[in-house]
Amino acid sequence: MAENLDPGARAAAEQKARKAARDAARQDESSEINKITAGKSDIIPPWEMDATGIALVDTHAHIDGEDFDGDREEMLARAKQAGVVAVITFGDTMESSARVVKLAASHENVFGGVGVHPENAFPLTQAEEDNFSVWAKEKNIVAIGEIGLDYYWEKDEDKRKLQRKMFVRQLALARGLDLPVCIHDREAHGDLMSILKTEGRKNRGVIHCFSGSWEMAKELLKLGWYLGVDGPLTYKNAAKLPEIVQKMPADRLLVETDCPYLSPLPYRGKRNEPAYVRITAECAAKIRGESLAELSEQTTENACAVYGLNF
Ligand code: NI
Repeated sequence: MAENLDPGARAAAEQKARKAARDAARQDESSEINKITAGKSDIIPPWEMDATGIALVDTHAHIDGEDFDGDREEMLARAKQAGVVAVITFGDTMESSARVVKLAASHENVFGGVGVHPENAFPLTQAEEDNFSVWAKEKNIVAIGEIGLDYYWEKDEDKRKLQRKMFVRQLALARGLDLPVCIHDREAHGDLMSILKTEGRKNRGVIHCFSGSWEMAKELLKLGWYLGVDGPLTYKNAAKLPEIVQKMPADRLLVETDCPYLSPLPYRGKRNEPAYVRITAECAAKIRGESLAELSEQTTENACAVYGLNF
């Protein structure tokens, strides 16, 4: 990377490189899945299924980005047809948070979280931090997120330190604004737990796309946190996740897409969208021995409780 770039430009370039790496991985997965599903035409998309009695909330999406620039309104219409009554979309940079505020203001069923994702951590100035207080008062803004720690993509110790600093600062911001947080944790379980038990002990919210052990889940549940599950629940290599979904109390479970990433089967590797939360919800219902209607009612109640939604 060019040495003469200013920090902002360097961060943007790094972010672009990481997105390219993720897109390439998605492409690889997509061609694998296409091989598996080639010739199978019996896949019914969620928006063609009966949505009577289904009222789901996709509690974690990223619909502000260019992946949806071509069909954002159609995508939201498909979600509605699939029984998804609301979507919570999260910013991951200052720019994307500003777009989230606009989206939430212009759509009744779109709620938003504003925050800086750990992959994009930077030394936040006071003026930038002040933006959050303004955004928090806007229509349908319900959380600070997506914030957290990501040691999978970030191997550099100094940058991990910056992530922790920014995470702690955004936790404080959320407490000041009396908002829940939405937390990303990838391969940073130890540091995450220690921060949540110290600086974050008075925060509330969701550990999204939970990827820890049952032991860790129990600790988080005891501390009052909600856990979100995404498309990986449907993968053959879902590991400990199904067991956690089965054992955890119903009143702390949330279902999410994290779209455009993490599509559930049979769409793995393709662009994800809020309608597909129904597939993850169905999978969770099956694991828990409940009907989709039951699970949808409970998880939507949970979404309303933790994010203070009213619709
Ligand atoms: Ni996310």
